[in-house]
Amino acid sequence: MSSQPKVYVTRPDVDDSGLELLRKSCQVSTWHETYPVPRSELIREVAGKDALYCALTDTVNKEVLDAAGPQLKCVATISVGYDHIDVEECRKRGIRVGYTPDVLTDATAELTLALLLATNRRLFEANKQVYNGGWKSWAPMWMCGQGLKGSRVGLLGFGRIGQEIAARIVPFKPAEITYTTRTPRPEEAAAVNARYVDFDEMLRKSDIIVVCCALTPETKEIFNAAAFQKMKSNCILINTARGAVVDQKALYEALKSNQILAAGLDVTTPEPLPLDDPLLKLDNVVILPHIGSADIETRKEMSRITARNILSALAGEKMEAEVKL
Ligand code: NAP
Ligand code: GLV
Repeated sequence: MSSQPKVYVTRPDVDDSGLELLRKSCQVSTWHETYPVPRSELIREVAGKDALYCALTDTVNKEVLDAAGPQLKCVATISVGYDHIDVEECRKRGIRVGYTPDVLTDATAELTLALLLATNRRLFEANKQVYNGGWKSWAPMWMCGQGLKGSRVGLLGFGRIGQEIAARIVPFKPAEITYTTRTPRPEEAAAVNARYVDFDEMLRKSDIIVVCCALTPETKEIFNAAAFQKMKSNCILINTARGAVVDQKALYEALKSNQILAAGLDVTTPEPLPLDDPLLKLDNVVILPHIGSADIETRKEMSRITARNILSALAGEKMEAEVKL
C-alpha cells in the first residue's frame, strides 16, 4: 500500500505539466473522458482521497465532501470563480480551498474586449452575410453598430478582471467609465478615471454594461426583468462572469422586444446552451462557449497553480492562492 497522498482529478485533459507535479509525490487518479465527470462517478472516486482537483463544471457540495470522507484536506479548482464549491461547508470541515486568481486576469479581460467589440460592431452578424449572400454591396447604413468611443460604460464588478477591462477600454475614448461594487475602490478607479455609481444609476445611464463580478446570492439574476426595464434602449450587455448573474428568460424578452440593443455572453445557463435555446435565434446576441481564460499559456499555468495549491495544502504550507474561508 502506497503511503503517498491520494488525489482525484476530475478531468484528464488539464495540462499535463500540472499532473506531472502531482505525480512526483502523490497517487493521482483521473476521470478519463473529456466531458465533466458524471456525478455518480465523482461520488465513487472521491472516496478516501486527500485532495480533489476540480473544475468549474463540478458542483462540490456537502454530498461530495461526505463521500470523500474526513481525510480530505483540500479542494483546488482550476478557475478563479468558486461559486461551484460550498466553501462554508469546507470551512466547517477544515478543508482548504485553492483557486487560480491573477494568472487569468489578462486573458479574460482581453476576451471581454473582443466580445464587446464583436457585439457592438456586429462582427458575427456581418460575417454571416459574407457567406449567405446577404452582402450585396457596400451600403451607407448597413451593418452599422454602436461605437465604443463616446459611450458610457458601466462595470458591475471592479476586481482584478474588472480593472483590467477598464484599462483596455480607456484607449477607445469612452465618454465615461463607471463601476458598481459593494466596496468603492477610489485608488484603483482613479487609475482609469472611473466613477463609483450605484446599480440603479448604472442601469439607467450606461450605453454598455459589462458584468465582471463574482456570482453570489446577491448577484444571482441581478439582471432581471426590472433591471432590463431601467436600461436604455441602446444598451449593450456583456457578460463574462457567470450565466446565473442574468435571468436569461428576461434577457431574451428584453432583446426580442428591443428593450435593450444587444448582448454578448461568454457564459450562459446552462452550459452548453441547448441548440434549441431561443437566444440562438436572435441576431442581436453573440454567444461564446465560456472561453474567457482560454489562452494556451494561461491554461497551462492554471493547471500548475492548481497542482501547487494541492501540494502546499497537503504539506500544511501556505498555498499560492487560497480562498479566505
Ligand atoms: P475579484 O477580483 O474577486 O472581483 C470580483 C468583483 O465582484 C469585485 O469587484 C467585487 O467587489 C464584485 N462583487 C462581488 N459581489 C458584488 C455585489 N453584490 N455587487 C457588486 N459587485 C460585487 O474576481 P475576478 O478575478 O475579477 O473574477 C471575477 C469573476 O469573473 C469570477 O468570479 C468568475 O466568475 C468570472 N470569470 C469568468 C471567466 C470566463 O471564462 N468567462 C474567467 C475568469 C473569471 P466587492 O467585493 O467590493 O463588492
Ligand atoms: C472561469 O470562468 C473562471 O472562473 O476561472
